[in-house]
Amino acid sequence: MKPIINIISFLLIGTACTGQQDKNLKLCNVDSKYANKVDSVLKLMTLEEKIGQLNQYTGNAQATGPEVIDNTKHEQIKSGRVGSMLNVIGAATTREIQSFALQSRLGIPLLFGQDVIHGYRTVYPIPLGEAASFDLDLMERTARGAAIEASSEGIHWTFAPMVDITRDARWGRVMEGAGEDTWYGTKVGIARIKGFQGNDLADSNTILACAKHFAAYGACIAGKDYNTVDISDMTLHEVYLPPFKAAAQAGVATFMNSFNDINGIPATAHTGIQRDMLKGMWDFNGFTVSDWGSIREMVDHGYAADLKESANQAIIAGSDMDMESRAYVSHLRELVESGEVPITYVDDAVRRILLKKFQLGLFDDPYKYCNEENEKETVLSQPLRYLARESGKKSIVLLRNENKALPLKDDVKRIAVIGALADSKQDMLGFWASEGIAEEAVTLLQGLKNRYPDAKIDYVEGYDLNTNQLTSSAQARKIALAADVVILAVGERANESGEAKSLADININANQQQLVNDLKPYSKRLVTVIMGGRPMIFNELTGASDAILLTWWLGTEAGNAMADVISGDYNPSGKLPMTFPRHIGQIPIYYNYKSTGRPESKYSSYSCRYLDVDFEPAYCFGFGKSYTEFEISEPRVIGNNHSFDKPVEIEVTVKNTGIYKGKETVQLYIRDKVASVTRPIKEFKGFQQVELLPCEEKTVRFILQKEDFYFYNKDLDFISEPGEFDIMVGKSATELNPVTIYISESERN
Ligand code: GLC
Repeated sequence: MKPIINIISFLLIGTACTGQQDKNLKLCNVDSKYANKVDSVLKLMTLEEKIGQLNQYTGNAQATGPEVIDNTKHEQIKSGRVGSMLNVIGAATTREIQSFALQSRLGIPLLFGQDVIHGYRTVYPIPLGEAASFDLDLMERTARGAAIEASSEGIHWTFAPMVDITRDARWGRVMEGAGEDTWYGTKVGIARIKGFQGNDLADSNTILACAKHFAAYGACIAGKDYNTVDISDMTLHEVYLPPFKAAAQAGVATFMNSFNDINGIPATAHTGIQRDMLKGMWDFNGFTVSDWGSIREMVDHGYAADLKESANQAIIAGSDMDMESRAYVSHLRELVESGEVPITYVDDAVRRILLKKFQLGLFDDPYKYCNEENEKETVLSQPLRYLARESGKKSIVLLRNENKALPLKDDVKRIAVIGALADSKQDMLGFWASEGIAEEAVTLLQGLKNRYPDAKIDYVEGYDLNTNQLTSSAQARKIALAADVVILAVGERANESGEAKSLADININANQQQLVNDLKPYSKRLVTVIMGGRPMIFNELTGASDAILLTWWLGTEAGNAMADVISGDYNPSGKLPMTFPRHIGQIPIYYNYKSTGRPESKYSSYSCRYLDVDFEPAYCFGFGKSYTEFEISEPRVIGNNHSFDKPVEIEVTVKNTGIYKGKETVQLYIRDKVASVTRPIKEFKGFQQVELLPCEEKTVRFILQKEDFYFYNKDLDFISEPGEFDIMVGKSATELNPVTIYISESERN
């Protein structure tokens, strides 16, 4: 029988989705352009074929979870029992496996998904690093670049952006998100979704995005991955849900639910967040996919007695597609035929998935993304490498620069590069590097050689990459002594942050920190370059370093980007998207904490602080230096008699008082001084980047809307309340100038 795709055009029989409306089942509202097609296909499907659409398996490219060996996948695809594959790479391979799907009775095309988290073959900085650029346009462009490259190799769908907010640097997955701030994390998530999905999913270089991990995965207790999440509903609504709500409103095509339980309910079985909130209140018409095996893991959670019960709980709660649990393909037929699961739940999930396949254009041309010519032209192209370099240099944060140690002038004669990370290609790409190839990455050492071709550049590893045991110390001291500048690379390896990479201790390895101190007496200038995927603690090396650059893992063009900054070709402009603790015991530590009844004070023994450690972090949210200096004036409030009826306008004057051109990220925070629930001492609500020549000044204006003052009250109503507000403007969360205004409910009172 001819596959459905050849006969669909004759079956445009208008049919509303059949089946009784279950009270808590908010049906997918398929837009009219596709409603007939989707429902026409649905009408033709057997129960087995419907269940097949809800089933996703991994391919052989890489296992990104605990793999079940199953050599029957291709046969299952040919019999219509698989709706999607992940970890299948390349135009040729996806074409072959898509051909298996077209051999099935209805020939419904497969969706190919992949973790395109920070690039595909061209790898960009890790998301936490790129968030330090505070350049939303850049983050949209790199997501666009990743989509162009991934789609050229047959990928229809990325499991990104990860929009989990987190305040705990012990959690290895902080590297995947945008840090600790809800408002900023929301903006970054939207930018990345726009980049991946473009303006039309039917374009052959746009791909489905996926807001993950829904929800509150970043609140795992003690920063232990997959751990319990036990938070108040207010915290859930105030801190963790907003980026997901914004993603849904921005039109993200899919959601991925999370491994963790939320206050006792595994996310995969959480009707409240998936049905009532996401598909109900937020009117989400995409589909949800479980995280790898997480439906099956409800048994491990002790929430389901067996896989069949997991399948029942998950489909009713709104988990549409089952990644690698085999729960649906094993038990849904029995559950539907016994009446335990109404067919309307299965139909709704299938409609949601079919809709995305139609929107991508896969029913018109299942092979549209499998173009080997396009693949050859696109993958690792020069424009994409240039974009990676741009993102790299804009993601670097200058933490310290004493005695103007940086930038390095062109006439530098001898450079000593020390530290095995400086020459480790495999560590430049970071975790979740998709199809990135380490050999194609530019190391710090190579980047410096490219930038300073006439300088004598000596290199010594200084420590063993695997053991961190110090090596070649005498040689290191010798080249340091002979050099004009020592550039020392320390930090984490690419496999020390990421999934299942939680750390109880985030101090940079003691030997590495000791090496910095050992080399100090032999160095005219000592520049420490810190690589890694999370906030790290490095108190012991700070004093010995004339300059400190935080370079995260910058991807394929890492070395060239670092050289751009070290040379001053690019004046560093990065700002921290996450607080860097001074001590592990401070965690969780974040800028937007609450005052308490005894606010933190160095001077009162009766205050909210530790006896043994300063309460300030090492580096605060929004912190980042420049080679030049910026002065930001006191904020000026435009007008008076403020009310929520109209925007509040604030302006400052920013002046470059240094000798280099540079970019400052001017930040605005608010404080609701008295409210019906306690509020943070400050909330990040805006930023603007301004590039200035030496002595140049510009006025920067912020416009705050009523929504910027909203919060969740004790009844979880999202409201604003009139009263006094501090508006603070400056260059980091602790370098701010305040002004206080009163905002009434409306002009009339
Ligand atoms: C992993 C991750 C998830 C990823 C998925 C597929 O376990 O938790 O973020 O998208 O499996 O690789």
